[in-house]
Amino acid sequence: MTTNIHTYEPRLGHGLPHDPFNAIVGPRPIGWISTQNAAGARNLAPYSFFNAFNYVPPIVGFASIGAKDTLRNIEATGEFVWNLATRELAEAMNQSCAAVPPEVNEFELAGLTPLPSEKVRPPRVAESPVTFECRSTQILQLQGIDGAKVPTWLVLGEVVAVHIAKTLLKDGVYDTAGAGHILRAGGPADYFTVGPEQLFKIRRPR
Ligand SMILES: Cc1cc2nc3c(=O)[nH]c(=O)nc-3n(C[C@H](O)[C@H](O)[C@H](O)COP(=O)(O)O)c2cc1C
Repeated sequence: MTTNIHTYEPRLGHGLPHDPFNAIVGPRPIGWISTQNAAGARNLAPYSFFNAFNYVPPIVGFASIGAKDTLRNIEATGEFVWNLATRELAEAMNQSCAAVPPEVNEFELAGLTPLPSEKVRPPRVAESPVTFECRSTQILQLQGIDGAKVPTWLVLGEVVAVHIAKTLLKDGVYDTAGAGHILRAGGPADYFTVGPEQLFKIRRPR
């Protein structure tokens, strides 16, 4: 019965041409995160190990696999901004992931405009239609079942201000399908977009 199922223990390898893990846990929303270091140098980078974890207060989080500039900046300042990555901004988002020294400003690299935030020091991406200003609440270093630390940090932050382009509010309701969200899937290059054709509704049982 299980001959039709490919089973593996990740610690022993997947035995496939590509690791299916992040193709399965996907497509994922992208945490396109802007930060500043203590001296005010700007940074922008995408993190697809990203999601929302709480409603009230709203808390979002992302995982830095390795200690990267974004993590270091948040450790130093406690602040970050999440910017919605859309189909129109996909190329710029991708350019902002270049592994460049901390002093290189990815806003300039990707041709994006910094827009001052209201509650935190890192700027928003002016071209992005939705942004969250966030203050870091916890930074957790992950560990395996054996208790050994892995070099990955989960950064959690409370959303202290939300900015939404009014064109995306239809009778006051946020238009997810109209916003052109992009989502990261597996492999070196796979992304998805969502539009009205993917929408279906199910109500919870009462
Ligand atoms: C779509 C996309 C998603 C990514 N997701 C992650 C992620 O979840 N965690 C991570 O550590 N790096 C991720 N990366 C790679 C980082 O963006 C890259 O290492 C970047 O240089 C980090 O920038 P920083 O050092 O300025 O923070 C992703 C890259 C792309 C293009």
